[in-house]
Parts: sequence; structure tokens; C-alpha cells
Amino acid sequence: MSDTTPILRINALTKTFNEFTALHAIDLKVHDGEFLAIVGPSGSGKTTLIRLLVGMDEPSDGSIWLRDQRIDEMPANKRPTCMVFQSLALFPHMTVGQNIEFPLKLRKVAPEDRKARALELLDLLRLPQDYYSKRIDQCSGGERQRVALARALAFDPEILFFDEPLSALDYRLRKALEKELKDLHARTGKTFIYITHSLEEAMVMSDRIAIMRAGRFEQIAPAEEIYARPVSRFVAEFMGEVNLFPIRAGQAEGVTLSPAAASAFGGATGTLMVRPESLQFLEGEEHAELTFAGRIEAEYMLGSRVQYTVTLEGGQTLIAEVLRENAMPGGPGTPVRLGCAAAACHLIAEA
Ligand SMILES: Nc1ncnc2c1ncn2[C@@H]1O[C@H](COP(=O)(O)OP(=O)(O)OP(=O)(O)O)[C@@H](O)[C@H]1O
Ligand SMILES: [Mg+2]
Repeated sequence: MSDTTPILRINALTKTFNEFTALHAIDLKVHDGEFLAIVGPSGSGKTTLIRLLVGMDEPSDGSIWLRDQRIDEMPANKRPTCMVFQSLALFPHMTVGQNIEFPLKLRKVAPEDRKARALELLDLLRLPQDYYSKRIDQCSGGERQRVALARALAFDPEILFFDEPLSALDYRLRKALEKELKDLHARTGKTFIYITHSLEEAMVMSDRIAIMRAGRFEQIAPAEEIYARPVSRFVAEFMGEVNLFPIRAGQAEGVTLSPAAASAFGGATGTLMVRPESLQFLEGEEHAELTFAGRIEAEYMLGSRVQYTVTLEGGQTLIAEVLRENAMPGGPGTPVRLGCAAAACHLIAEA
């Protein structure tokens, strides 16, 4: 990865549909070989952005660069990019081999070279060699997904784009393919740009995550950073269940701060983020840097962890998640105190 020569650069890219602005002058740099996930709620502009990048639509303003070549005015079939769609668009009546060889045939590659490459790609995608002559309509959903990937790789694109390719698959298959895609990325060294609704999916696979909100990037950073230090309430809430407490002049309602924690947060004003898994039950009069007191409202078994909804004395709701061996006996109605370390919290500047 190099910071100086991004493989893809987007400058003030804007897209309007009549009166509506779907993309507001966005900038982005993608490094060569990077796996970038673009995550955001429905309607935030993810597909619009990808359509501009692959040449399925034209920007209203701004530019797109592949290394030092401007590509936004280049027709889609001339761009060294390839899109893997949600609907796979394979040819169902053709064999796996014919599907994978399709891009090579377009490029007039000799039949024996096409076959050799198709067999290589079957191997890369961990499909048995005899699938070469199997018909697409005899393949399972997961196998078709792999064939579609093999075909995309046969184009030998510089960048592969994915628009929610796994969203139609069942949970287990999706989980398996997430790992395979990550693995495939490592083995091919190609640049992957991957759209998903699912932050969990993005975290499993990507080097960096770009969070989109209403046609803009809200935060672009590695998963750990987005998880630990979201820049806004929007990102924090998008990351899953979190506790957010408004903090004013270093005081947060519903939270008792130790003198050390109070000085750590100084005169801060904003929002204090406390992750459910950072909380632990306290015994007796024990105090933590941040202490919460209330009653258990509900408990949910999550497997190795137990999640609690706690109603605090001030009426706020706190979500806590602890390992099963640290679970609190007693169930709903039990008075509890919970604590967490100041270092495990994050202060969001936004109130
Ligand atoms: N051709 C179009 N004409 C008018 N508005 C459009 C067009 N295409 C997209 N939009 C609007 O642009 C916004 C962004 O749409 P886009 O498809 O990029 O969202 P998305 O982030 O991909 O959402 P999803 O997660 O639901 O796929 C939406 O409000 C959508 O209605
Ligand atoms: Mg979309």
C-alpha cells in the first residue's frame, strides 16, 4: 500500500438527479491492493457511487482517476474495472467453464489458453476441476457466487467492485463466503471495493471502512478505529448497540464519575460512548471510574455472553454485555451496579 499513488482517486464527485443531490462533492483515495468497504443505510448513495466508478452512469461534477489517468469520461467497457453484482448475471444454460471463459472469448484469447485460465480460476475459487463442464443451473447458490467471482477475475480487472453480493444468501453461506472473499483478496492482491449494509460484514473483510450518510462520507478509517473512536453519534449507532450519554462540563447524567474519570473528561461537552461489553457488574459498594446504578429490566442469552437491559435510577436505559461466567443471578428486577474504565469510553465531540 502506498499513500502517494492511490490506485483510485475521486475528486469532488457530485451526482444530482433533477433537484435531488445523491452525492455531495465527495473525495476518496483508495490504495493499491486495499480492501475498502463502503457502508451506509439505504439511500445513502452507495450504489450511485459505484455506478459512477464503473461507468454505468455519469457524474454531474467532479472527477475520477485511475492512478494518473482520468476515467470518468471513459466508456465502461474501456475501464480496467469490474463489477460483481448482487444478481449474478451468469448464463444459466451455459457451463461453468463457458461462463468463466466468457470475458476471455470477448478478448479473442485462444481456446486452449482460455481453458487453462478457467481451470486455474476454479482452483483459486476452490471449486473442483470437474465443475468446468457442469451447467450453472446445476450449481448451488454458493457455487454460483464463486463462479461469478471467477468470471469477474477472468476479466483481470485492476479493481473489483461488489454491490452487496452476499445479501441474498442465507446466514451460514454468507459467513463462509465473507471469509473466502477476504482470503481471495489476499491471494489475488487486487483492489476490492465492497458495498454492504452490514457493518459486521465490513469489519470481517476490509482494511478500511467508509461510512456513508446522505451522500457524504461521515468517517473513513480502519475498522478498529471506527469501532473504538466513531466521529459522530451516527457512526456510533451504526456500529451496533452502544450507550450514549450526553456529557456537559464533565458531568454526565446517570453516570457517577470517580475524581480520576472526572478529571480525564475535564470540562468536556459532547457525548460519552460506553460499549455494552466494556461494562462489568460491581459488588457491594465497589466503585469503578464510571459507575451506573439501576435495575435489570431484561436479560438475553447470546451464547458465550449475556446481554442485560438495565433501567438506571435516572430512568435512562443501559445495555451491558458480560461473559456468561460473569452473569448476574436474579433476573429482572434485581438492583445492580455496573462499572467501566474511563479508558474504555470514548468522547464524541457532537452533543
Ligand atoms: N436514477 C435515479 N433517479 C432519481 N433518484 C435516484 C436515482 N438513483 C438513485 N436515486 C436516489 O439517490 C439516493 C441514493 O441511492 P442509492 O441507490 O445510491 O442508495 P444506496 O446507498 O445504494 O441504498 P441501498 O442500500 O438501499 O441499496 C436515493 O435517495 C435514491 O432514491
Ligand atoms: Mg444500493
